[in-house]
Amino acid sequence: PLLESPFEVGLRSLQSLGEAGTEDGIQSEQAGGKRGFSAYFSKLTRNRREAEKPGGAAGATSSPPPAENISADDIFIAVKTTKKFHKSRLELLLDTWISRNVQQTYIFTDGEDEELKKKMGSHVINTNCSAAHSRQALSCKMAVEYDKFIESGNKWFCHVDDDNYVNMKTLVQLLSQYPHTQDMYIGKPSLDRPIEATERLGDNKMRPVNFWFATGGAGFCVSRGLALKMSPWASGGHFMNTAEKIRLPDDCTIGYIIESVLGVPLTRSNLFHSHLENLQQVSRSEVHKQITLSYGMFENKRNIINMKGAFSVEEDPSRFKSVHCLLNPDTPWCPPQVAY
Ligand SMILES: *[C@@H]1O[C@H](CO)[C@@H](O)[C@H](O)[C@H]1NC(C)=O
Ligand SMILES: *[C@@H]1O[C@H](CO)[C@@H](O)[C@H](O)[C@H]1NC(C)=O
Repeated sequence: PLLESPFEVGLRSLQSLGEAGTEDGIQSEQAGGKRGFSAYFSKLTRNRREAEKPGGAAGATSSPPPAENISADDIFIAVKTTKKFHKSRLELLLDTWISRNVQQTYIFTDGEDEELKKKMGSHVINTNCSAAHSRQALSCKMAVEYDKFIESGNKWFCHVDDDNYVNMKTLVQLLSQYPHTQDMYIGKPSLDRPIEATERLGDNKMRPVNFWFATGGAGFCVSRGLALKMSPWASGGHFMNTAEKIRLPDDCTIGYIIESVLGVPLTRSNLFHSHLENLQQVSRSEVHKQITLSYGMFENKRNIINMKGAFSVEEDPSRFKSVHCLLNPDTPWCPPQVAY
């Protein structure tokens, strides 16, 4: 019941790749239709194993001294959702991680919901964007997220989807390693090589561009210093125009502006997780170290992290309630002191 259809949100990057043969200007073989997804998925799994080898990327086990002492209050977390998921997805987040981070969290949606407003007040933003799951609608929401972040004055912008659990403690630890005034773009690449796209230059001229991007479905963060530099391509109506220029979804467009236009490389972290990877590989002993988690379906099976916890899989199919009780055992609805 949690998921209407597999891959609905997180596959948006792939969906656009799938359109490659049509009018969209991507020349990737991973493109593929249904069969492509399977191969792609096992590739992701392999990549993840690679990434987990010692000496890996950002957010490794031994954290260096902070570059800046930030707190959760310095982070702006944008949660992207759509009205039809307010009950099935968002409520779970409100009951778990958002309940402890209401001040930092902003919900970006596409329809009015008085119940949600009662809980989140001005932190619910009706973007007035279309509820369709189109490239344009997704970019429309990202544009509003960007503008609201700039307006907020916060030090870090982090975007997540409505199927992500956010561990604020580890997020603060990771971001503390970098000054927010520096150019920082942190997340998990969703492909094993840069995406190849075509930039439309006007006058019917085209130019191939290659860049890495952090998958929106795993969550990613951008420092304020970098976000301000993105303004000519991201603020006001510019984000939609930029997205049209390369005809790619919102998360790719962010990568395009940062890597291709501004020349700032993506800093990889394997502590962000989307439902496009094999979540079984996140073990219980490592759960508390992760920054984001997700859940989903893959080939009609649940794709969820592998943990026993306070709740059974039937009671807690996403595992988010169990994760929440592991991280916050003082939560009133968590069973007292269960030894797992
Ligand atoms: C962060 O706070 C600690 C403890 O107050 C202090 O020792 C350290 O110098 C601070 N680091 C920075 C970069 O401000
Ligand atoms: C959406 O439309 C309403 C009503 O016109 C308006 O008050 C609100 O500011 C709009 N939201 C955004 C993000 O522009």
